Amino acid sequence: MTSVTPTVQPEVHPVGAHRAEVDRIRDDFPGLHQQVAGHPLVYLDSAATALKPRQVLDAERRFAELRTAAVHRGAHTLAATATEEFEGARATVAAFIGAAPDEVVWTSNATEAINLVAYGFSNASTGDRLDGTDAFRLGPGDEIVVTELEHHANLIPWQELARRTGAALRHLPVTEDGELRMDLAPDVIGSRTRILAFSHISNVLGSVAPVAELVRQARAVGAVTVLDACQSVPHRPVDVHALGVDFAVFSGHKMLGPTGIGVLYGRRELLRELPPFLTGGSMISTVTMERAEYLPPPHRFEAGTQKVSQAIALAAAVDYLREVGMDRIGQWQGMLGQRLAAGLVGIRGVRLLGPAPGTERAGLASFEVDGVHAHDVGQFLDDRGIAVRVGHHCAQPLHRRLGLTASTRASTYLYTTAEEVDLVLESVADVRPFFLGTPR
Ligand SMILES: Cc1ncc(COP(=O)(O)O)c(C=O)c1O
Repeated sequence: MTSVTPTVQPEVHPVGAHRAEVDRIRDDFPGLHQQVAGHPLVYLDSAATALKPRQVLDAERRFAELRTAAVHRGAHTLAATATEEFEGARATVAAFIGAAPDEVVWTSNATEAINLVAYGFSNASTGDRLDGTDAFRLGPGDEIVVTELEHHANLIPWQELARRTGAALRHLPVTEDGELRMDLAPDVIGSRTRILAFSHISNVLGSVAPVAELVRQARAVGAVTVLDACQSVPHRPVDVHALGVDFAVFSGHKMLGPTGIGVLYGRRELLRELPPFLTGGSMISTVTMERAEYLPPPHRFEAGTQKVSQAIALAAAVDYLREVGMDRIGQWQGMLGQRLAAGLVGIRGVRLLGPAPGTERAGLASFEVDGVHAHDVGQFLDDRGIAVRVGHHCAQPLHRRLGLTASTRASTYLYTTAEEVDLVLESVADVRPFFLGTPR
């Protein structure tokens, strides 16, 4: 290999113009200013979980210190203030994705949000109706459709739902390069399809699904759409109403927020009819010894004491992202993703997964280094202070299709600099010479 200098045109992506702003942003992230293995940390694992700015940490701490009280329960002043802030956080997050507050349900993470929908379907299907309607009744002859590139969080809950109800699970395959076989969509999505669940952006490939076309095909057959927006909502503007999906899920910890908080968006009419997943306190209107009436959404899906300080901190994260601007974040990360992709294809013995440079991709790239296991790549980079993700990234079927058991993923966020991307490229170029003694 001669050089890993990216081929991205400076006039198209003015790196210098962004640098001052990125430096200012970096000042807000205490986690960025530490040494790992004797080197300044280069954090390229934001698709797994994002670092947190001071503003978010402060919001969570302020609430815990001064506002702690049970929401929707007490009559005292603190409880009323906590409830107000908790519901205010819901309105902030809802507005961020173009939804109404009563269309936003708090969950622990995206995984729980998908399970909430899947268990809503099975509660409606197994005789325990829990106030559900026929819209969610599934059985033999019905089909659930996913894609071959899904994160396990958007696959296994549907496998289990199929098992519980007798519905069949089908999938839209990908090519050996990881591209969705949209030519097969009309064969896979048909009159039996009741659910179509797919990722907006692949957490392995960084590729972007044709949401409008998939929604169109699902609607044409009356199927409910579930969008896994874990890798899109944190990184680009997303308007769930404009996308036309019925449900969407994402996790707070991937968008500068804390762990332990996630979001389910559901179209109002559907949430009204979906049976609850968890039952207990806080989600009921009246209870007798024999049965209970449930609250309307979103509270009917929020049984038990809620994740209050986490919700408030997530709203602070949303405020932070909005202030920087989701358009700008999306553009910056698009540039970084292209820089990564272009650099990786220029390194001898490295196979870039997913879209070729120049094709739309998010700010991440996964790759295989010929002859070197991904875990060794990760260890080698870690010795230089560079944090990346290695393994199957919770997408074993996709890796199998790509002929791999594991890959290495570098993923960026609004605090990532172009120099950090160049540093990881330089280090990846050193991997094979180090392990195999091959020329650079
Ligand atoms: C595309 C995608 N879906 C779902 C998830 C699951 O998110 P969580 O573990 O926060 O529930 C992730 C996280 O890695 C992801 O990247």
